[in-house]
Amino acid sequence: MSTPAPQTKEIPYDKIRAVEWENGRLKLIDQRILPGKFEHLYFDHLPDAARAITDMVVRGAPAIGVTAAYAVVLAARDRYKENPNGWQKAIQADLNFLAEARPTAVNLCWAVEYMRGLINAGISGDPTPRLLAEAQRIHADDIAANRHMGELGAALIEPGSGVLTHCNTGALATGGYGTALGVVRAGYAAGKIKSVFADETRPWLQGARLTAWELVQEGIPATLIADSAATYLMKQGKVAWVIVGADRIAANGDTANKIGTYMTAVAARHHGVKFMVVAPTSTVDMNTPDGAAIPIETRAEAEVLNFGGTRTAPEGIQAWNPAFDITPATLIDAIVTEKGVVTNPTRDKMVEMMAR
Ligand code: MRU
Repeated sequence: MSTPAPQTKEIPYDKIRAVEWENGRLKLIDQRILPGKFEHLYFDHLPDAARAITDMVVRGAPAIGVTAAYAVVLAARDRYKENPNGWQKAIQADLNFLAEARPTAVNLCWAVEYMRGLINAGISGDPTPRLLAEAQRIHADDIAANRHMGELGAALIEPGSGVLTHCNTGALATGGYGTALGVVRAGYAAGKIKSVFADETRPWLQGARLTAWELVQEGIPATLIADSAATYLMKQGKVAWVIVGADRIAANGDTANKIGTYMTAVAARHHGVKFMVVAPTSTVDMNTPDGAAIPIETRAEAEVLNFGGTRTAPEGIQAWNPAFDITPATLIDAIVTEKGVVTNPTRDKMVEMMAR
């Protein structure tokens, strides 16, 4: 699969936006078909936007949160048009439906509950402009947080280091710029990072399809590896840090992230490779005490039984497809948020960081 030439020239890396609000519509890059095709889809109603989250047109915890905020604007516009006096009541079911689009990434609930709070506090007249301004602020704040985390994370890396990343945590997974991939970008720009390795990230191939695409767009040289090559890569001394994002960080620092993150953390500790989690505080859930309480999404067997749309496993075999796993805080050397860095995370340190 090759990257379509026009994107290389016309969309520099720092201009990639997975989620946009354009002419009163929600506009999403269809991430299911990258890198073979670069296409946008447009949404006018909340149920369609919620389905786009479930179907992974848009994915990545912060990008899902930003999308949800814009989806609430679509619902408020519809409900106000239907009933200017009762829209606040009618929209509650829409918000509940949206919050259930995917279970693990807490940014989705965070955005929905934030917007619900504004609605329930009372908005007089047409709510669309007010809610749109809030969604756009959430979006802008996410980009600003990512840029700041990029600097904080890069500062932890020794010059000349190799790094390994898992899943896609870049502009496609966020409001823009990226979390872990933001650190990769900042670290490469600062001359700290000498080489970048990206896991393929079976079964959905976020690494092979999306991270690889973003790095090619940016002109950052990188090497794609099979997930199963990561341990041997570490054994060879080629990486000093594993840098990943998060879908939910529990109060004690346990972290849910893309399936395969946990095994990478175990391998990293065995080989003396440092492990960094990069996520905005909208991904931190202080109401979830530890990793065992984080709901883990199980996705369709077909994602494992097929590769690139072609059946690769025999008929008659079953598949198990958990989309996320939990990395215990004890395997994490640093959690980087926009509020600062927590090394060797514990509950007390997380409480202190969140209060900053
Ligand atoms: O299933 P996905 O693609 O939504 O999973 C995404 C991840 O696990 C990311 O690592 C996480 O959301 C952080 S994105 C900045």
